[in-house]
Amino acid sequence: MTDVGVSADLSKLRVRTVEIRDDEVVLIDQRVLPHEERYVHCRTWREVAEAIRDMTVRGAPAIGVAAAGGLALAAGEAAASADDPAAFRAALDEAAAGLTATRPTAVNLAWAVAEMRAVWERELAAGAERARPAAVAAALLARARAILADDVARCLAIGAHGASLLGPGDAVLTHCNAGALATAGYGTALGVIRSAYARYGDLLVWVDETRPWLQGARLTAWELEVEGIPYRLISDGMAGYFMSRGEVDAVVVGADRIAANGDTANKIGTYTVSVLAREHGVPFYVAAPLSTVDLSVASGAAIPIEERPEDEVTTFRGVPVAPAGARARHPAFDVTPAANITAIVTEAGVLRPPFGPALAAACGGAT
Ligand code: MRU
Repeated sequence: MTDVGVSADLSKLRVRTVEIRDDEVVLIDQRVLPHEERYVHCRTWREVAEAIRDMTVRGAPAIGVAAAGGLALAAGEAAASADDPAAFRAALDEAAAGLTATRPTAVNLAWAVAEMRAVWERELAAGAERARPAAVAAALLARARAILADDVARCLAIGAHGASLLGPGDAVLTHCNAGALATAGYGTALGVIRSAYARYGDLLVWVDETRPWLQGARLTAWELEVEGIPYRLISDGMAGYFMSRGEVDAVVVGADRIAANGDTANKIGTYTVSVLAREHGVPFYVAAPLSTVDLSVASGAAIPIEERPEDEVTTFRGVPVAPAGARARHPAFDVTPAANITAIVTEAGVLRPPFGPALAAACGGAT
C-alpha cells in the first residue's frame, strides 16, 4: 500500500466511528446522533452487516472499514469452530458475500472485502503453520486494523491537498456528511474543510440538511459544532439562492464511487448542487480516497444506485410527513457528471480534467 506520507494517531480522534477490537466491532450509532452518543457492539459479521444496512454506520469509507472488521470477526468465529481450511474459506466467502450485498453504491465496501480476501487467499496458499485458521484469523484482524488506520492517514493527506484549493474567508458548501463519521475518523470533504480552517482560521460552511436522512443537519452540523468551525445549516432547496447572491465560494463533497471517466456517485442531491455550481461559476470539488475509484466502471451510467424504502421519505423517525398512503421514490445516490467537477482531491494530490488519464495514473501509482 502506498505511503501517503502522513501517519495517523488514532488516540487523538475525537470521534471513533469504527473501533475494531479482538472480539467485537464497536460503532457509534449514527441513527441517534446528534441527540445521543450511543455505541453499538457487533460480535458477529451478521451484526456488522445489519448495522451497515440499517445506517448505524454509513459513509463510503466507514462502511468499508466496518466490513473489514466484520470479516475479522467472521474469521475469529470460523477459526474457533473448525481447523479445516476448506470450511474456514467457505465461512469467509459467505461473510464476504453477505457484507458486500448490504449496500451496492459505495465501492469502498467491495474494495475492503477484496483487500481482506487477498490476505486470506495468500495465507491459505502459504500452507503449513501460516494456513492454520487461527493464524489466518490473526492476519485478518491485523489487516482490518491497518485498513482503519490507513483510512485516517489518507483523509489527512486529502485534507492537506484540498486546503490549498480554499482561501481565508471562503464560504464553502457541503452536502451530506463526508466527515469523521463517514470515514475512520477525519473525513474527506470535511477533512478538507477541517484542514482549511486549521490553516486559515476563517471559513464559513454552508451545510445542506440532506433529506431524507438529514446527514447534513444531524451529522455534519454536529461535527462542526464540536470543533467550533462556523457554519449555517440550510435546507437543500436554499443552495441556489445563496449561490445566486455570490455567497458560496466553493463546493466540496465526498464520493461513493468514481467511475474511470470521473463521473461521481454521491448522496442524492449532489448532482443538483453541481448543476447550480456550474450555472453560477462556483468551483465544485470532490474529495475521496483512491479506494473510491472504480476503474472497472467506464462512466457513471454503470454505477449501481441503491433504492431505499419509500417510508424513509414519507416519514421521519416514524413520524409521517406526508398523507397516509402517499407513495414515494428513494434513490439514495445520484451521479454528478465529470464535466461538472472542477477537481478531484485524493491522497495522491489534486486531479484536474481530463479525469480519465489522471485517475488511471493516480490509481496505477497508488494501489
Ligand atoms: O447514505 P450514506 O449516508 O452512506 O451516504 C454517504 C454519502 O453519500 C457520502 O457523501 C459519501 O459516502 C462520502 S463519505 C466520505
